[in-house]
Amino acid sequence: MSHSNPPSPKRFERPGPLTGRIRVPGDKSISHRSIMLGALAVGETRVTGLLEGEDVLATAAAMRAMGAQVERGEDGTWRINGVGVGSLLQPQQALDMGNSGTSTRLLMGLVASHPITAMFTGDASLSKRPMGRVIEPLSQMGASFEASPGGRLPLMLRGISPAVPITYRLPVASAQVKSAVLLAGLNTAGTTTVIEPVPTRDHSERMLRGFGASLEVSEENGERVIAIQGEAELKPQGIVVPGDPSSAAFFVVAALLVPGSDLVIENVGLNPTRAALFDVLRDMGGNIEELDRREIGGEPVADLRVRHSALSGVEVDPAVVPAMVDEFPVLFVAASFAQGTTTTTGLEELRVKESDRITAMAEALTLAGARVEEREDGLVIHGTGGDPLPGTPEDAEVTTHLDHRIAMAMAVAGLASHNGVTVDDTAPIATSFPTFETLLASASGTS
Ligand code: S3P
Repeated sequence: MSHSNPPSPKRFERPGPLTGRIRVPGDKSISHRSIMLGALAVGETRVTGLLEGEDVLATAAAMRAMGAQVERGEDGTWRINGVGVGSLLQPQQALDMGNSGTSTRLLMGLVASHPITAMFTGDASLSKRPMGRVIEPLSQMGASFEASPGGRLPLMLRGISPAVPITYRLPVASAQVKSAVLLAGLNTAGTTTVIEPVPTRDHSERMLRGFGASLEVSEENGERVIAIQGEAELKPQGIVVPGDPSSAAFFVVAALLVPGSDLVIENVGLNPTRAALFDVLRDMGGNIEELDRREIGGEPVADLRVRHSALSGVEVDPAVVPAMVDEFPVLFVAASFAQGTTTTTGLEELRVKESDRITAMAEALTLAGARVEEREDGLVIHGTGGDPLPGTPEDAEVTTHLDHRIAMAMAVAGLASHNGVTVDDTAPIATSFPTFETLLASASGTS
């Protein structure tokens, strides 16, 4: 999980057109939450379409270490037998979170209001990421922490029961921080409230309600106010996980860029707090059609038909950033091929993802021959007007910094370049999209 194996470099080159129908794996955010809430419900939760990527498997292993049964059946259905809110067990070993910020921050929330102590560890990328943003509200609730310098992993968390209910106004737009506080609130008597000045993905709220928690969302002075009542009793559920829009994004952009492409991506989750990339790409001239819009497991879903398109540069409204926060690496790639300039602002949070995605993408795209200016809070990209990028020189490779989305975004750039793009390590792709390369080969007829 920690990618200590030797790096696995690969050159991505111009394929044939991307055609046919593909299905991307289940949504990462929803998969994490289905295991966590299943592990807190008494009885059996069944999950189909779960993302079997390393990040989600880290969550599954952690919930097992705290007493839940989490098993994959031969038919691919996951069965989770939970321990009940308040009954998580003391883990006997450190919880290895691998590369996964979502596992870490959400599980810190769960542990914080249980009378257990847990050590959280992670890989080199995760150990650089800030945890102070969850330490701060969870300390207010009574948990205590011994963190590495700068509030980082490895860290020891001592949970407390009873914890103190708080009202917390998010200082950063972060669904992980919001979810950590709400999950801590599950085992905290009284009302725990999170105030969200800028809306972020709402999968936790939807799923907590689905499992029977008493959770209310209201709007006050233009801010979202989310209040959860503890101590909650969760009832097991049947969950169908929709396809991950953040994974679909790589194939959407690839089909827009590779001439002759006409690709259908089935079953893509289109929760409005996640789907802004597709609107931005349409504004750029991308031909993306939604087919058979429907609802699955309380989330809007559609099949996306994407055809090769000429793109134009745009100024991306910073207000949409939370609804496409993980999609900027691949948007930068699309912008590199557009006619004119694309400007992005308000992207400070990208600097604390699995890598500093502003600098990592500026360096990677520049190496592939794109014209990119780096600013403190975003990139300005001057596109080729539809021409291929030169690609990376024969003896050079882009550095992905243990970041799956940098690897996949630059793979997509390689598909639309003259000489291809070499990424230094494809291993991190398995954290969120283990079938990426297989699907790419099947969509481009090279499998
Ligand atoms: C996630 C929230 C986002 C996102 C991450 C998944 C979640 O992080 O980048 O990939 O599942 O809640 P932040 O909350 O830090 O923005």
